[in-house]
Amino acid sequence: MKLLGTMKINNVGHLEISGCDTVALAQKFGTPLYVMDESKIRSTCRQYVEAFRKYYPNSEVIYASKVFSTMAMCRLIAEEDMGLDVVSGGELFTALKSEFPADRVYFHGNNKSPEELEMALEAQVGRVVVDNFYELSLLNELAKQHKTKAKILLRVSPGIDAHTHHYIKTGMIDSKFGLAIANGQAMLAIEKALSMKNIELKGLHCHIGSQIFDLKSYQEAAETMMGFVHKVKTSTGFVAQELNLGGGLGIYYSEDDAPRPVEEMVVTITETVKAAAANYGLPLPKIIVEPGRSIAGEAGVTLYTVGSIKDIPDVRKYVAVDGGMTDNIRPALYQAKYEAAVANKMNNPAEETVSIAGKCCESGDMLIWDVELPRVEAGDTLVISSTGAYNYSMSSNYNRNVKPAVVFVNDGNADLVVKRETYNDLIRNDVVPERMQDKKAYLA
Ligand code: LLP
Repeated sequence: MKLLGTMKINNVGHLEISGCDTVALAQKFGTPLYVMDESKIRSTCRQYVEAFRKYYPNSEVIYASKVFSTMAMCRLIAEEDMGLDVVSGGELFTALKSEFPADRVYFHGNNKSPEELEMALEAQVGRVVVDNFYELSLLNELAKQHKTKAKILLRVSPGIDAHTHHYIKTGMIDSKFGLAIANGQAMLAIEKALSMKNIELKGLHCHIGSQIFDLKSYQEAAETMMGFVHKVKTSTGFVAQELNLGGGLGIYYSEDDAPRPVEEMVVTITETVKAAAANYGLPLPKIIVEPGRSIAGEAGVTLYTVGSIKDIPDVRKYVAVDGGMTDNIRPALYQAKYEAAVANKMNNPAEETVSIAGKCCESGDMLIWDVELPRVEAGDTLVISSTGAYNYSMSSNYNRNVKPAVVFVNDGNADLVVKRETYNDLIRNDVVPERMQDKKAYLA
């Protein structure tokens, strides 16, 4: 397992993150446990914010909270002077409860409900990123009822085919997100928005996909978007003041991945926009980016306790841990690859090739196929790296497993930011209808 961020091996041979011994964390907080390196999250936030300040001050970096949304994380993002992208009433609620400044919230989603849009209007979120014609009309109507003008960006699909997994590509014409430039629907929506009394169109948004390593995709997206800004100006007179180019920068999960530095991405985007603005004679728009995975992904690890070990001679050795697809669905859903280590045996040499199985009743519940580890025994603390993005947020209670706790580590301190669920949490919303409450019916 590659040591990322502040990870190191301490003098008792344990994995340490931001000054905290992970084996001690597992003992203190139990397993499975998500451990997030707060110092690394903050330093990546600062890389984004500082690079934009340096190359393009008229900009805003917003964190895509779908990656990992908790109240402590919203606080952290507010402290780092960033904005927040939310995609549901639940993420908006989390942000508001953490007292995140509503005017720095961008509300996304391809099917926001009337209730969610009302919630956004009441909270006076900064921008609603409108995805489709239905939402545009609905928002105009709701804003009228609220006697306000909704400030919006329009999500358009630039037709860029980013080289990433099919499930996480979003910028093509055949996509459930946004309105395509190529078929004229984006232009039509702009004309419609401009004609609406309770809509104030501020600019455009696109997002081409996730886990992107090829910065050319960003260059193409920025060029296409600026070309479209020009076309819109020519045809309607409207000049987009804001250009949100989405998130997507890739991170390190395994040796297959070669992430690009944040600053390079910022330079690519800002240089492309500047050149295009000069070329078309357009004023420089405010640039917004909304990274998620690159902020939280490498900062997180998951700690597990090893339980049963099944050696099938000449076939495979399965090492089962006390979590699995409930806390990390990504291997099952996207064939995602991860690296692992034995946190209490970091100095022991690799001795065997094993596969890491989860505890769900599902053959596909495998976290890693074929990883080389020191000899593993029941009770060891297994660590999987780069689990900070889309793990906790995609976790489930399948098989009625409880969701793990989350701790932030920072310079030797470990703070609980999400408590481990209890069995009582699992049945909290269960209702037994009165007609079933008579025990005699089945005891008879
Ligand atoms: N903005 C929009 C409009 C998005 O749809 C996304 C991610 C982001 C920003 C943040 O992208 P990031 O910087 O994290 O790549 N569950 C999948 C990823 C789904 C991506 C959804 N959209 C996974 O686990 O790989």
